Amino acid sequence: MKRSLIYIVPIIFSIVFCSQVKAAISGNCVNCHTIHNSQDGSDMATYGGTSGENPCLTRGGCVGCHAYGAGSGTYNVENIGGSEVPQVWHTGTDLAAGNFKYLADADNRGHNVFAINQEGDEGGGSMFPLPGCEDITATNFSCAGKYGCHGDRNVTDETVAMKGAHHADDSTIDGRTTGTSYRFLKGVLGLENNGDNPWQNKNPIDHNEYQGLIAPPNDASATSPGTGGSISGFCAECHDYHDDWTESGHPTDHSLPNDDEYTSYTTYSIIAPVARVILPETPSGTVAPTGTNDDIVMCLSCHGAHATNHYKLMRWDNLNNWSGCSVCHKSKQ
Ligand code: HEC
Ligand code: HEC
Ligand code: HEC
Ligand code: HEC
Ligand code: HEC
Repeated sequence: MKRSLIYIVPIIFSIVFCSQVKAAISGNCVNCHTIHNSQDGSDMATYGGTSGENPCLTRGGCVGCHAYGAGSGTYNVENIGGSEVPQVWHTGTDLAAGNFKYLADADNRGHNVFAINQEGDEGGGSMFPLPGCEDITATNFSCAGKYGCHGDRNVTDETVAMKGAHHADDSTIDGRTTGTSYRFLKGVLGLENNGDNPWQNKNPIDHNEYQGLIAPPNDASATSPGTGGSISGFCAECHDYHDDWTESGHPTDHSLPNDDEYTSYTTYSIIAPVARVILPETPSGTVAPTGTNDDIVMCLSCHGAHATNHYKLMRWDNLNNWSGCSVCHKSKQ
């Protein structure tokens, strides 16, 4: 009886919900949802190796689906019953945001979200509590919600903070809802690479595009997502390093000047990528350092988003070589 229910309930469910469920994800409801976390008395919410009832009746938490092999999975995209699920913690080739596996080498390689952090502390100089973001601690730092990055940062539970996003029609990214924001980062704009290599920054013409701004005011809050959609403004919700000038470090949301120092950066680099003021309709391989629109320095010009193989989440080994710096700075080549 229970077994047949498992199959029938999703069918009824899909008839009821189908009109609202747009094509953002595909596959049977049962791939991702369980109604009672029970099949023949065995648990069904076991993705990622844990079990328990989850909000939205999913078969795992964020890590359950997005680190399907609990860090030891081989693929950067797992196919779960026909649904393609991008992986953030696995042994394969990194996706655009990096790979949480590097936290096993050193805490300072990335964001030590509680569900993944393998060392359990910040070792060698804790960054908790982060100035201005003291409510985020080593034991609540989440993927989403109030103590994390994705979804609605006003909602505490990380799944509830994402509610509706996975089923949203995200063919237009307008930053108004979580589902229609770049990578479910509420308010952030960008162009999601949906080509042959989804979720990857593969080469100069096959990559994501990020929203930048020109010369934001020094007050980070004035440019945080919701108003400008800037990816750097988003990072600045927790890190106050976002301004056009150098008071708080290297300029971000700042255009490459039409100056000999910068004018050799003409082909988009996935080592030190730039953001755009006007996002192209398809990923573009062109950069024109004219101090205008398509050549904006951003936090992600130098950093990864989740974790990288380098100190301080850098895109290159900045302790031993400054090769990434010279993508933009000619005189330092
Ligand atoms: C590939 C995985 C996947 C599949 C397949 C899937 N869902 Fe979901 N669904 C999710 C996730 C993840 C959430 C929770 C986070 C969110 O809402 O973004 C969710 C949330 C929901 C919600 C609550 C949020 C809302 O939109 O109100 C409903 C209802 C829902 N799903 C119904 C369905 C139905 C019906 C089907 C089958 C037609 C289905 N889902 C198939 C992953 C999936
Ligand atoms: C039941 C499985 C499941 C769970 C649980 C789940 N996801 Fe997903 N997630 C998916 C699938 C499938 C996709 C791919 C959707 C698509 O093709 O756009 C996805 C895509 C994403 C993306 C990329 C969206 C894009 O622009 O392509 C993000 C970010 C994300 N999920 C975050 C989360 C977070 C944060 C949580 C926890 C609150 C979560 N997911 C929980 C299955 C899941
Ligand atoms: C929700 C708050 C939040 C947001 C948004 C956020 N971070 Fe962080 N970040 C943290 C916290 C907390 C730490 C300290 C704990 C840690 O390192 O895991 C941290 C640490 C870092 C570190 C140092 C890593 C280390 O361990 O020494 C870098 C670099 C960094 N973040 C870059 C970024 C970039 C780039 C963005 C935007 C893509 C960003 N952060 C967005 C909360 C945030
Ligand atoms: C030009 C490259 C570059 C850009 C752009 C950049 N960073 Fe960094 N960031 C670094 C380097 C290099 C370090 C290592 C420490 C240092 O040299 O100050 C670092 C360190 C950090 C740290 C760790 C600080 C600590 O106390 O250990 C955080 C957090 C951080 N950056 C966040 C950001 C955010 C957020 C942005 C965008 C607003 C940003 N960075 C833009 C290169 C950059
Ligand atoms: C994505 C392009 C880009 C990358 C990568 C980059 N820079 Fe810059 N950098 C710029 C731009 C643009 C300016 C501001 C130029 C201006 O308007 O005068 C700048 C300014 C500077 C300045 C001068 C700041 C001041 O006070 O005027 C220094 C120093 C600097 N960068 C060092 C670095 C180092 C070190 C790295 C590598 C860790 C690096 N940059 C990586 C684009 C970049």
